Amino acid sequence: MSKTLKIDRARLQRELDELSLITEGTPPVVTRVLFSEADLRGRDFVKKLCREAGLTLRQDAVGNIFARWQGTDKKHAVGTGSHIDAIPNAGKFDGVVGVLGAIEAIRALKRSGFKPTRSVELTVFTAEEPTRFGLGCLGSRMLGGVLSADKAARLADREGKNLAYWRKRGGCKGDLKSVRLPKNVYDAFVELHIEQGPILEQKKLDIGIVEKIAAPSTLRLQLTGVGGHAGATLMPGRRDAGLAGAEIALAVERAATTTGSPDTVGTTGIFRIEPGAVNSVPCKAYLEIDLRDTNVKTRNAALKEIEAAARAICQRRKIGLVMERVNMDPPAICDARLVRTVAEVCGELKISCRRMISRAYHDSLFMAQVCPTTMIFIPCYKGYSHRPDEYSSPAQIEKGVRVLAETLARAANG
Ligand code: GLV
Ligand code: MN
Ligand code: MN
Repeated sequence: MSKTLKIDRARLQRELDELSLITEGTPPVVTRVLFSEADLRGRDFVKKLCREAGLTLRQDAVGNIFARWQGTDKKHAVGTGSHIDAIPNAGKFDGVVGVLGAIEAIRALKRSGFKPTRSVELTVFTAEEPTRFGLGCLGSRMLGGVLSADKAARLADREGKNLAYWRKRGGCKGDLKSVRLPKNVYDAFVELHIEQGPILEQKKLDIGIVEKIAAPSTLRLQLTGVGGHAGATLMPGRRDAGLAGAEIALAVERAATTTGSPDTVGTTGIFRIEPGAVNSVPCKAYLEIDLRDTNVKTRNAALKEIEAAARAICQRRKIGLVMERVNMDPPAICDARLVRTVAEVCGELKISCRRMISRAYHDSLFMAQVCPTTMIFIPCYKGYSHRPDEYSSPAQIEKGVRVLAETLARAANG
């Protein structure tokens, strides 16, 4: 197979460029929040490519898009895919390489004359990014049965618009209960993604094979203090919700840096104060905190420390506190056989690789709940991601697509 497989690197680059221009930002900024105008246009662009590649399209009730290359065995399938939604001020490769790269992998296999026994199915997952609802991996979380239809129906965005509203905008039909995948739908799932970290580049390696995905969690806090005139409210009597929030953000940093594990990371990525006027004491603060570790026990201990600190700070400052655990996900362990298959493919193609953990989360975290799963990482410039200067070279992407194509071919016909 490998000798005949030709990856059309130039075409894939053109498609990556074209999709990057479908953005709510000003290029090179890519922002595509779930079911925004840009996200919908991006989805249409991907669907068009899938149709042109001869794939059969279907969309489920939460907007996950499935594009199938039907095999001779109608009962079994192998899966691949990723996401095209992008956080505010992002780059053009996160998720997209795993979607457009998978389409090119399928096209290359078709051009080579390969005929799949098991079907090969690409999924474009709904809202891998948490921007709209504060919860990452909405589509794969539901496919994996980790988020129930009832809980999903209660999700709402900052403006109070709920999932039903956005599903309608996204043209999603059907009952949310139908999204969950039975366990035997895929024999294997392989996601291609940029590393989003510096290891491959530093070690001058072409491919990372993911053995484990770190355990993410999110805390949401609403702080209520007492506002007032910035000139007339004297310092001793103040109940400033913003300052309580600032202290909590520092407690997050302290908790994440004192677990004894270099793998603990804590980020107060959302911090809004109200009313947001320079001459007004903040009466409200709204924080969202992202905390992760490869070890769930270490993560949970740090999370409890942050919660205790938040309670103590708010009590001392006489601030009302509503605190919610949005998600507390376990890590995913990838399938050892599939990891070996990817390693064998790299060996045969003489492409350098190493096994590694993913510190970012991915839809694979939840696909691992329902089928044997792994990920193929490619290097990215300085490990930059979630920023506009995120970059992987055409040659690096081509190698990733080649390894993906070979792995899918083996999983489909092995
Ligand atoms: C995914 O985008 C993550 O935040 O890890
Ligand atoms: Mn991302
Ligand atoms: Mn991603």
